[in-house]
Amino acid sequence: MQIQIERIEHIVHENESVKTFFIRGVNDPRPGNYLMVWIPGSGQIPLSISSFKNDLCGFTVKRVGDTTAAMHNLRVGDLIGITGPLGTSFSIRGERILLVSGGIGIAPLLYLAIEARQMGKKVYAICGFERAEDIIFEDVLNGLLDELVITLGERTPLDVIHKLYEKRRFDHIYSCGPEPMMKRVFDFARSSQLGAEFSVERIIKCGMGICGACALPNGMRVCKEGPVFDLEDMEGVWG
Ligand SMILES: Cc1cc2nc3c(=O)[nH]c(=O)nc-3n(C[C@H](O)[C@H](O)[C@H](O)COP(=O)(O)OP(=O)(O)OC[C@H]3O[C@@H](n4cnc5c(N)ncnc54)[C@H](O)[C@@H]3O)c2cc1C
Ligand code: FES
Repeated sequence: MQIQIERIEHIVHENESVKTFFIRGVNDPRPGNYLMVWIPGSGQIPLSISSFKNDLCGFTVKRVGDTTAAMHNLRVGDLIGITGPLGTSFSIRGERILLVSGGIGIAPLLYLAIEARQMGKKVYAICGFERAEDIIFEDVLNGLLDELVITLGERTPLDVIHKLYEKRRFDHIYSCGPEPMMKRVFDFARSSQLGAEFSVERIIKCGMGICGACALPNGMRVCKEGPVFDLEDMEGVWG
């Protein structure tokens, strides 16, 4: 796939370390897909699509190192290179779905929530953030979802998922965030016999399925067969 050069149309400051950038020219992305984003003079990184409306594609970036810091220094009108949309997407199966995120993991789940609500599904979410000042998308999620639970602290407590299940009886789970959190969601889904899908992160180098840098212990490559894997795929990793 070729690199396309696109202009940054709009930037939203979500909090002190997170910004959402909007560009055009991304062809028919699905929730869960990612872009390889090239910042001239800095590097190329994978970023999930957090929204897509009227041809405007959003992606939400947490500043963690050099390349994301360079991204945060960009202004409206600056040019970036993109390849994509890439990778697998969420199936949007289930009629009463639960989203479970940790930190910036809410980014791909926001786009999933928007699409699922448009399809008339019930959507509930448990979104974990370390501190109150890390919370993002609260207003948009409150306006969109049938129930939003925000938790603070390093771990999303499992009893929150159990309690919401008692109340809402969701039938499919979608999760993105730190791996220990997704493993707990995986264990819950397996023991409750629910379908689940996970957006998994690994260091992406080639982004084309060639170098093997992003391979999981079961041999599946995050850049190609992922980043979205279902519960059965993850049996060989977390099972
Ligand atoms: C499929 C996919 C989708 C992603 N979507 C998003 C997104 O929507 N928003 C977002 O902010 N980030 C996302 N990431 C993570 C993002 O790509 C990394 O934060 C980024 O590459 C870090 O680059 P850097 O040069 O700023 O930091 P680096 O200097 O490379 O790293 C800084 C710190 O982040 C860690 N890190 C770097 N890359 C990754 C990675 N891929 N996974 C986990 N830890 C990493 C490093 O170990 C180090 O501790 C995604 C990653 C993948 C694989
Ligand atoms: S990053 Fe090279 S195979 Fe996935």
